[in-house]
Amino acid sequence: MVKNTSKNEIEKQISHIALIMDGNGRWANSRGLPRYEGHAQGLITLRKLLRDLKGYNLDYLTLFTFSIDNWKRPKEETSKLMQLLRKFISNDLSELHNNDVRIKVIGSRKDIPKDIIDLIKGAESLTINNSGLYLQIAFNYSGRQEIINATKKIAFAAAKGELDPNKIDKNIFESNLYSAGIPDPDLIIRTGSEKRISNFLLWQLSYSEVYFEECLWPDFNKNKLDVAINDYKNRSRRFGNVISEYR
Ligand code: FPP
Repeated sequence: MVKNTSKNEIEKQISHIALIMDGNGRWANSRGLPRYEGHAQGLITLRKLLRDLKGYNLDYLTLFTFSIDNWKRPKEETSKLMQLLRKFISNDLSELHNNDVRIKVIGSRKDIPKDIIDLIKGAESLTINNSGLYLQIAFNYSGRQEIINATKKIAFAAAKGELDPNKIDKNIFESNLYSAGIPDPDLIIRTGSEKRISNFLLWQLSYSEVYFEECLWPDFNKNKLDVAINDYKNRSRRFGNVISEYR
């Protein structure tokens, strides 16, 4: 039987926001600065937003900080982005930990310098028991690669006779993703005026509400976040169902 879903039932508190922080390069170019200065400013914007988020009761925040496809960029820029993650973890970890934030970095560890892998492991283990905001950082991440990796893990388990292929379902598939155990984003916000998903959370965004913000990431702030959240709250999430007034 199809559940009769009313508009109120499906309008719910927001639990998980995902962010594509686009526009750093353009922000820098428009000021005659090198692109990496835009990323540095982007980190300042991110740090401020994380502080502002304290009163929001948000459970999960997922950030797209570096795509596997970003390796195509000039070495100077990719090195600076590596340096920014170093800086973020080294400078901000104790504040995040004191605010009960749990950190998890998702993506491939291939091509990541060893000292950064150690910093990531340290941040994850320090914050593993924190129960405030769950900060999921997609770094060296690709949505397609995540799906391929999950498929491989499942295929190997099936080949070894540990898993009956007939039993493969949504739950088994999700438990093999980087984001295992984390609910799908309710809302994804992309800044920088482009209207695409760019290989981010391809599985997890199936029913997420999408919000495109015109401003470049360094210009994003709490007020713009509030506008996006209010827009989300006025939407009717149906997950393929119909709301009762239209039945
Ligand atoms: C996309 O803008 C943005 C990125 C590739 C990096 C995002 C990084 C930050 C916001 C800083 C925080 C980073 C870490 C690692 C903690 P773009 O360069 O594609 O901008 P454009 O579209 O204007 O060229």
